[in-house]
Amino acid sequence: MNLTRRLFLQQVSLLTAAAAAQSAHLAGHATEHQMTTPAQPAGPLLDTNALARYVDPLPIPARAKPSGQRPDPKHPTTHIPYYRVAMRQFQTKVHRDMGPTTFWGYDGSCPGPTFETRHGEPILVEWANELPRHHFLPIDHTLHGSEPDKPEVRTVVHLHGGRTGPESDGYPEDWFVPGQSATCYYPNQQEAASLFYHDHAMGITRLNAVAGLAGLYLIRDEFEDSLNLPQGAYEVPLVLFDRSFRPDGQIYYPVSGKPGAPWVSEYYGSAILVNGKIFPYLEVEPRKYRFRLLNSSNGSFYRLSFSADASVTSPGFDFIQIGSEQGFLEAPAPTETLILGPGERADLIVDFSSKAGKELFLRTEAVVFMQFRVCTEKTKDDSSLPPRLRPVPRISENTAVTTRELTIADYQNRLGRSSVMLLNGAHWGMPVTEKPVLNSTEIWSFINLTDDSHPIHLHMVRFQILDRRPFDLSVYQLTRKVIFTGPPIASTANDLGWKDTVRVDPMTVTRIIVKFEGFTGRYVWHCHMLEHEDNEMMRPYVVLPA
Ligand code: C2O
Ligand code: CU
Repeated sequence: MNLTRRLFLQQVSLLTAAAAAQSAHLAGHATEHQMTTPAQPAGPLLDTNALARYVDPLPIPARAKPSGQRPDPKHPTTHIPYYRVAMRQFQTKVHRDMGPTTFWGYDGSCPGPTFETRHGEPILVEWANELPRHHFLPIDHTLHGSEPDKPEVRTVVHLHGGRTGPESDGYPEDWFVPGQSATCYYPNQQEAASLFYHDHAMGITRLNAVAGLAGLYLIRDEFEDSLNLPQGAYEVPLVLFDRSFRPDGQIYYPVSGKPGAPWVSEYYGSAILVNGKIFPYLEVEPRKYRFRLLNSSNGSFYRLSFSADASVTSPGFDFIQIGSEQGFLEAPAPTETLILGPGERADLIVDFSSKAGKELFLRTEAVVFMQFRVCTEKTKDDSSLPPRLRPVPRISENTAVTTRELTIADYQNRLGRSSVMLLNGAHWGMPVTEKPVLNSTEIWSFINLTDDSHPIHLHMVRFQILDRRPFDLSVYQLTRKVIFTGPPIASTANDLGWKDTVRVDPMTVTRIIVKFEGFTGRYVWHCHMLEHEDNEMMRPYVVLPA
């Protein structure tokens, strides 16, 4: 294992360990975690690791229901489904033994309702802000976009992974306040995939997300139908996010301690929730299941495994990845572990047929957070798992018209604390520098100058990862020249699928290849660690007409 690889693994384990930072037996990790995030004081927290395990059944988010039909804005003679989804404050129990917790959610739930849509069948969604006028989490008015003259509560909804026109994409500055709404048109002209919708308001995205504003959006197509994968009750969404709670059961969000500037550089919760519950269980039959995973955490990367007993060191058993963010892999990929960063999704098949009567677990390297109870009765399983899925033709590097070298950097103040985080050295408000032409192909080469992994997301497009390659950081800092120190790091099956969010590891140059298909207009690209995104690690980009 080369040095970069080892350091990266250490990084991932630090990030996942953070989710269990409250746990005594992980005290060593907790110390390391605090070193990486010096800004977070140890607040008075509920010890979520002391909660009873597997006493709450896994909730399944409701399915979004259209409230009628409206003329298609593009073809006014046809009518298309129209949904109205209100963002509301609500209370819910995240665990049997905790009092109700206040959240903000779409349709008053977190995760919000799951959209079930079909390729080629557009929909309209009216997103209505019915939230209170005051935020319950600490706004930093020194951040761009959340200055004191801005209303406290602002929302704008982005469909992450959607090939959406710019007017409906949820541009961070297109926010609206309580009492207002915005209607978005989603064409669904893209292959079957797991998308998700979430808030994107300038300067407070991290807080709106922690408050609970996220949900799944599935696009299906005929190709998917033809695969005969597990469906109905055997297709289960697993939305993962971490939170810490105060002793009174309310969401805890740390502050920097710097007067007037509460922003912290990362948020890691003490508990990983699944579909909004801490330590849930799911009763399953001994057969194949399809799990649609989403990591909607602000900052945590999870190295996930399924294991046969409830310990973080127990060996994992094989599961099968069939899809990444933007659709199916070429072929089912058996694996024992999968890294999922903020904003990333995975489509998995887990076969419980040889596990009747067993209790199984889903875990990271630091915490076991969900249980599966496999019942003993034999059930019929008509679903199949074909040897080939959808071809993912590799985009040739020769087709790229440009390579952009883009740095990822974290600027620290005299105390060694992060003060601002920039993409290619540019603030949000500086002139647009990334202007691809519609239908052209480009290589974006991310040069990570920090010691964190950053999940980089481009709106509107899907892309492929070309490679991740270690380089000499000190030479780069002196000369601005990339000198590689080793060959590219081996790709996983996940890396070879269609992606819209890519993990850019420390001390690597990560290259992606993108064809800018879809729409012209103004979009954004950014880090999906939401604390970074809110403090300048986000840039506009413009797709120019051909
Ligand atoms: Cu999931 Cu611009 O975000
Ligand atoms: Cu980042």
